[in-house]
Amino acid sequence: MLFSLLINFSNKGAYKEPIMIKGRIVGTGSTIPKRILTNKELENIVDTSDEWIMRRTGIKERRISSDGQREETSDLAASASLKALEMGGIPAETLDMIVVGTVTPDRQFPSAACFVQKALKASKAVAFDVSAGCSGFLYALSVAGNAISTGSCKNALVIGAERLSTITNWKDRSTCVLLGDGAGAVVLTPTTDHDGILSTHLGSDGSYWKLLYASSEETYEIPEILDIAEGKPFYIKMEGNRLFKKAVSCLADIAVSALEHHDLSGSDIKLMVPHQANLRIIQAVAEKLSIPMDKVYTNIHKYGNTSSASIPIALDEANREGLLKAGDYVLLVTFGAGLTWGASVVKWYS
Ligand code: COA
Repeated sequence: MLFSLLINFSNKGAYKEPIMIKGRIVGTGSTIPKRILTNKELENIVDTSDEWIMRRTGIKERRISSDGQREETSDLAASASLKALEMGGIPAETLDMIVVGTVTPDRQFPSAACFVQKALKASKAVAFDVSAGCSGFLYALSVAGNAISTGSCKNALVIGAERLSTITNWKDRSTCVLLGDGAGAVVLTPTTDHDGILSTHLGSDGSYWKLLYASSEETYEIPEILDIAEGKPFYIKMEGNRLFKKAVSCLADIAVSALEHHDLSGSDIKLMVPHQANLRIIQAVAEKLSIPMDKVYTNIHKYGNTSSASIPIALDEANREGLLKAGDYVLLVTFGAGLTWGASVVKWYS
């Protein structure tokens, strides 16, 4: 059966409009680790305060995974995926593709996606990871959506999953207060209707890589109060202030391009689901797009910055709270290390 761009000819050979195939989100799911790490607890680890963290970032607490709880990146990813598959009514064995956006896979190789494939027994699916910093989920969504459009894939699972706690320098107060762990997933199926992922627009600029990167220059210690069995030889380095300004401009510019591509403006958007890096970044972008904050989904106060996982977790929570109805325009926007950024315009299905 042909799922790609279909060009119809009637019996008499007259040309008809091409039928566009798009990916449609039919299920969402998310899983977050059990362990809550509050700002108050962080006051015992670094020289910071609940008041500073809340005022400068909007974060109140975050989740920290532990090996003992079976909370490796692929465990969280597989758990989120099962919830998304169940919602979408899609059996795992019918999946053609599994793409995981992550910078913290269980191992350097094989990919987290291959572990997820094994856990789900999705034997037919091609499985691979995408590394695009915090933009990993939207990059993965773009790959899977395009695969559906070209017909190389029918059912796809797109995941954002991270254990940033394993690459956090717990002596660096300017980064360790920001980060958290978790996973979110969406299931895509093909549609020829007017809904689905209308388009995903991506950007990258490697010349700014030093604003945010993983380094192995020093070792770091994991605080005793955290049950993280094993650290990785890398930790995060960030130039937060410069990154903040780049984030606001890149996010706003790509969102405007994505909206204009469909003759839409901020007022057409029912819900913006942004990457949750900093509440002040989100507010600045919403203002530039003239989207009121009551149409912007935020959960950064509960989870902090979970990198690739933040958008699919937020989308799942918004979906399960009943905030999304058929025909609603949803705007997903992201920004991360690379630098990378992106925006997707989605017309909601169910
Ligand atoms: N607690 C208390 N003080 C802290 C602190 C903390 N956790 N972290 C930094 N500070 C201090 C700094 O040392 C600095 O002190 P100084 O003025 O005495 O030198 C002061 O607070 C201001 O630091 P600055 O980095 O200018 O703060 P900021 O307002 O830019 O906020 C971030 C810092 C990290 C919250 C903010 O820059 C940010 O969110 N950046 C972008 C994050 C991002 O986009 N991340 C990745 C994209 S995925």
